[in-house]
Amino acid sequence: MKNIVIAIDGTSASGKSTNSKLVAKALGYVYVDTGAMYRTLAWFCMQNRIDPHDAKAVAAACRKWKTKLECVEKDGLKSVHLLVNGYFPEKEIRTAEASLAVSLIAVIPKVREWMKKAQRDCIQFGDLVMEGRDIGTNVFPETDYKFYLDAHLEERTKRRAADGVNENLAARDQRDSQRAAAPLMIALGAKVLNNSNMTSAQTSGWLLKEIRAMLPATK
Ligand code: DC
Repeated sequence: MKNIVIAIDGTSASGKSTNSKLVAKALGYVYVDTGAMYRTLAWFCMQNRIDPHDAKAVAAACRKWKTKLECVEKDGLKSVHLLVNGYFPEKEIRTAEASLAVSLIAVIPKVREWMKKAQRDCIQFGDLVMEGRDIGTNVFPETDYKFYLDAHLEERTKRRAADGVNENLAARDQRDSQRAAAPLMIALGAKVLNNSNMTSAQTSGWLLKEIRAMLPATK
């Protein structure tokens, strides 16, 4: 693996997105939101009336859909988009329906296989900061840069509510960590941070300090 991959896994609302973006921007690396890729498939199923409970139909959709990975730069942040028929459904993947459907399709082993390949393909764009649930354990297990973010349930619920989303995070945690295929867990060797009482400036500052201490002098 020539390029560097910083794997940032963790529970929902643990600050993965905000901090992964801050770290990617500071280092000039490419940000990859793997949750958005799962959400895009959930949206595609909804568009095509494919029942997200029907594992065979969802796996078949995965074999057939026309996708492309694209690296875009906006406001100083480079990020990867998964396009379907040339379109990135940025807003559509954040609806409550898409959130509900995504946790159903994310348990399907064929879906996880497809996603893993697409996520590994992102390395073509350069050094990466990739956030998700299974990046350090399953997608890039060979990387030395593994982080796991968490915060107390009450704090995470508060953060989601501040974003205008009321979600049962305890149920989501359970679904994410108890599924058979690539469940959410702390990767061996991952540096763990509980950021319940920290601001994002403090969390991203901690991540950057840890990462810079590990980076080779040439990077
Ligand atoms: O991070 P998010 O809420 O956008 O993730 C959406 C869903 O996708 C969530 O139910 C967990 C799942 N997911 C996953 O299983 N593996 C990943 N690497 C990223 C997300």
